[in-house]
Amino acid sequence: MRTEELVKYDREHLLHSLAPVRANMGFVIESADGVWLTDTKGNKYMDLAAQAINVNLGHNRKDIIETAKQQMEKLVFTMMLRGFSNLPSIQLGQKLATILPPGLDHYLFTHSGAETCDAAFRVANLYWKTKGTRKYKLISLNMSYHGTSRGVATATNLGRGMIEEMPPSPGHIHIPNYYCYRCPFEKTYPSCGIQCARFLEYVIENEGKDSVAAFIAEPEQGASGFIAPPPEYFPIVQEICRKHDVLLIIDEVMTGFCRTGRMFAIEHWDVMPDMMCMSKGMVSGYLPFGALAVSGEIFETLAGSYFPVGSTQSGNPICCAIGVKCIDIYQQERIVEHVANLGAMARTRMETEFMALPHVGVVDGLGLMLAVEVVTTKESKGKPNTRISDRLQRLGVEHGAMVRVSGNRLGYSPPLTITESESNRGLDILYSVLKSLTPQDLKPE
Ligand SMILES: Cc1ncc(COP(=O)(O)O)c(C=O)c1O
Repeated sequence: MRTEELVKYDREHLLHSLAPVRANMGFVIESADGVWLTDTKGNKYMDLAAQAINVNLGHNRKDIIETAKQQMEKLVFTMMLRGFSNLPSIQLGQKLATILPPGLDHYLFTHSGAETCDAAFRVANLYWKTKGTRKYKLISLNMSYHGTSRGVATATNLGRGMIEEMPPSPGHIHIPNYYCYRCPFEKTYPSCGIQCARFLEYVIENEGKDSVAAFIAEPEQGASGFIAPPPEYFPIVQEICRKHDVLLIIDEVMTGFCRTGRMFAIEHWDVMPDMMCMSKGMVSGYLPFGALAVSGEIFETLAGSYFPVGSTQSGNPICCAIGVKCIDIYQQERIVEHVANLGAMARTRMETEFMALPHVGVVDGLGLMLAVEVVTTKESKGKPNTRISDRLQRLGVEHGAMVRVSGNRLGYSPPLTITESESNRGLDILYSVLKSLTPQDLKPE
């Protein structure tokens, strides 16, 4: 009875992002531990998505909770506006500098991924204004995700009515993404010459390099279903950005903090961005938080000028203390190595067992940010009807798991602290979900 009442209230009063209004899965989570979630009826679900790919260190760790408690006893809040400081924000800045690519050691603290990307766009515009030019255009990728707030919704390009109610912000340009399985240029890797990366240069030249402020991209596309770039992609893009004086913003909101088997996904290649966006794994979802890292060149250019970006809660001491603690855990528990190992094992199982299913077309992704694409047949690569997304999500719940679904892609992105035996159990569940799909589920539109 209690659960039914809760679900009814939820359905009638709460708005759920990225879902139809009044959508509700029919159960309510009450507690969690490690990779396990428990609902108000006592049912247990394995978290094979780490929620929104943010609870990297697992649910309800006592050591992180203790850190938050201790910080609350000492100092709950003082602000960073107008030049004031608190101890945890400085400690977090110093800690971040030990794990970020060298040179990215100037920070603005934020509270979500969208706010971070929005700040990156503003910093890009301020940087060029201070330099005496009015470069303002921003280039992002098709199928990208940088958040839903008004300032970033146009950079996001996921379709599905993302910005249909408002005019798109001016000055945003989308270019084809890296998506080798369904190449937008209908080429085949590696003979393609990485045309998706080279197309950036064509667009910058076409728009006029004096008007393009920055290019933003995820180092592995997350919300569109864990699409990894070919290894040449980001080095080529970096070269083009440098050649044309366009700032390179890497959005590590989802990929950062060990998710892909490196501390940051951009470390898979020899690339040095001008700005990096972080959130999610930075505090493992224990509180809302994020940070924008900017290069010394950007910081020094802006030095002395008024900085009109940020919010009341920037540098919240509790969030900062949790951030420091999480980085300690990532380092002490060698999460990078753990993810690289478990990710390689998971990929092997996907490439052998999962790919043996006639309706699995491809395995994609890095580390523990892996996905398979469900197709009508391997030969045609046809997409099943759009109901496949809800069907996969429901089948996950029926098999006792919260799974990550993006369109016709079924992801695997558990908390990074998952053990080998838990990981194998999770992959068994994903396999059963795929195996339960019927010809009806796979029918094209
Ligand atoms: C790469 C990336 N950037 C930005 C965001 C937006 O973050 P938030 O939901 O915290 O606003 C997300 C969220 O999934 C993301 O994956």
